[in-house]
Amino acid sequence: MAVVLITGCSRGIGMLTALQFSRNKHRVFASMRDISISGDIEKAAHKERLSIEVVQLDVTDRKSIDAAVAKVLDSAGTIDVLVNNAGIGQGFGAIEEADIGKARLIFETNFFGPLQLMQAVLPGMRDQGSGTIVNVSSLSGVIAEPYSGIYAASKHALEALSEALYFESHPFGVRILIIEPGGYDTRLYWSGRDAPGFIEGSPHTEYGRRFMNAVKEKLQGGGKPGHPQAVAEAIYDSVYTDQPKLRYPVGKEAGIAELRRQLGDEEFEQAMRTTLDIWD
Ligand SMILES: NC(=O)c1ccc[n+]([C@@H]2O[C@H](COP(=O)([O-])OP(=O)(O)OC[C@H]3O[C@@H](n4cnc5c(N)ncnc54)[C@H](OP(=O)(O)O)[C@@H]3O)[C@@H](O)[C@H]2O)c1
Repeated sequence: MAVVLITGCSRGIGMLTALQFSRNKHRVFASMRDISISGDIEKAAHKERLSIEVVQLDVTDRKSIDAAVAKVLDSAGTIDVLVNNAGIGQGFGAIEEADIGKARLIFETNFFGPLQLMQAVLPGMRDQGSGTIVNVSSLSGVIAEPYSGIYAASKHALEALSEALYFESHPFGVRILIIEPGGYDTRLYWSGRDAPGFIEGSPHTEYGRRFMNAVKEKLQGGGKPGHPQAVAEAIYDSVYTDQPKLRYPVGKEAGIAELRRQLGDEEFEQAMRTTLDIWD
């Protein structure tokens, strides 16, 4: 039985991942920034007679991170698996018009949060000579798609950090891995689409709309996102696989990530232009 700490478990992929580990008999600390909304995960766990311990943890607050890690260590003595899942999206918009405060919050949540959590758990994992850290990135950590540039930058930064740490932590028996989901049916997915962030009269609006519609129709099979349980299972399987690797693209868009890695910049641009057919 492993001791597992997961961030962002109030809903979505984090909640399902907590249930998935618990189902497999691990001791799960499901963290969330507002524990007054723990009712959903508690109800779901109760329904399946699963045991889950809820812990307060805001990934943008170092004191909250340290307190949560200390609480888990006091109670369980160890942390074997950390899943950095908590994240926020951007809402489609042009980089030129991005609100800098919002951009900083995206980086605080999607990059500095996981960084500080890793710093908090790594000493213990190094001492015990084992541990696994799962960083939930995105297809946007592989491809910097237009109109989601800030979110993509935060996930690219998380990928770079994870790749460097993969090598740094290897000598100490600690494994880092990256999950790269495509589109999944969660609040984050829809908040990006429902609230386009173009300013009134923006010269980018028309191209932005064309891009959003083309992605939906041509890349996402009619725009239906997958069920997030698939990501929860991919996270669990990536931790317990007997063929470990650094990156795990997940979902029907996984082929796009593979393609991006195989093609040069010019070939990729050409493939995008031909497939989406929206640019003059
Ligand atoms: N859904 C997709 O299509 C998709 C695709 C690729 C990658 N991802 C990644 O998957 C991860 C989970 O997202 P999701 O799709 O499950 O979205 P979601 O349903 O919106 O869940 C996001 C979770 O993150 C939490 N969170 C946000 N800010 C936080 C903070 N400062 N401290 C602690 N928790 C915080 C939210 O808690 P509150 O309830 O307190 O807001 C919520 O529990 C994210 O890293 C996201 O980037 C999602």
